[in-house]
Amino acid sequence: MELADAIARRKMTRSFSPEPVAPELLEELLSAAGRAPSAGFTQGVDLVAITTGEARVHFWELATDEAWRSGGARASGLMAAPAIVVPVADPGAYVRRYAEQDKGASSLSGRVASEWPVPYWIVDASFMVMQLLLAATDAGLGALFFRLHAEAGVVLEGLGAPAGRVAIGAVAIGRPAGDDARTSPATRKRRGLDDLVHLQRW
Ligand SMILES: Cc1cc2nc3c(=O)[nH]c(=O)nc-3n(C[C@H](O)[C@H](O)[C@H](O)COP(=O)(O)O)c2cc1C
Repeated sequence: MELADAIARRKMTRSFSPEPVAPELLEELLSAAGRAPSAGFTQGVDLVAITTGEARVHFWELATDEAWRSGGARASGLMAAPAIVVPVADPGAYVRRYAEQDKGASSLSGRVASEWPVPYWIVDASFMVMQLLLAATDAGLGALFFRLHAEAGVVLEGLGAPAGRVAIGAVAIGRPAGDDARTSPATRKRRGLDDLVHLQRW
C-alpha cells in the first residue's frame, strides 16, 4: 500500500475479530514503531506487547473497571482485540541523554523532567503510536489508540514496568469486526486546509 493510501484509509477500529495477529506480522508493526523519530535518538520508550489471553485479561482488569467491562458491545468488541501495545516512556532517559556532552549546548541540558517545556518522551511515544497505526493499516489490520481508564501508574506497575515510567495510552490491534459504532468523525467534519493552515502567519 502506498503511504498516501495508508494515511487516507487509517481510522480507528473499535470492534475486533478475536483472530490472532501472526507473530511475524506483529513484529513488523512493532518494528515500524521502533523506526519512529526520537529526540536525541534517546529511544526512551519501551513497548509492552500483550498477546496471550491471560495477559490481555490482566491488562483489561488493570486498565478499566468492572462497570466498563460489562458495558456491552462496545467493551466486548474492543476487548476482543488479539493484541495490545502499551508504549511506556522513560522521562529519566531523556534527562540523562540531554545531560550528555553532545547535548551540552541544548537549553534542555541539565533540566529535570518537570522543567521540559515539551516533554519529548510524550512526543516520542506519540510518534511511535502513529507509526503503529499506519503500519497496521498498511497490513490490512485495524487499530485503536485509547486512553487508560485507570491511573497510568497502577497499570504500569501491574505490567511490571520499572518505577518512574509514563504511559500515554494503549493501542489495540487486530482484524476489524466491521461493526464499529458511529463515533465523532460521523458527526464532526474534518477541517479543510483553508481552515487548518495559516500561510506565512496566523
Ligand atoms: C490523544 C487521543 C486519545 C484518544 N482516546 C480515545 C479513547 O480513549 N477511546 C476511543 O475510542 N478513541 C480515542 N481516540 C480516537 C479519536 O476519537 C479519533 O482519532 C478521532 O475521532 C478521529 O477518528 P479517526 O482516528 O478514526 O480518523 C483518541 C485519539 C487521540 C489522538
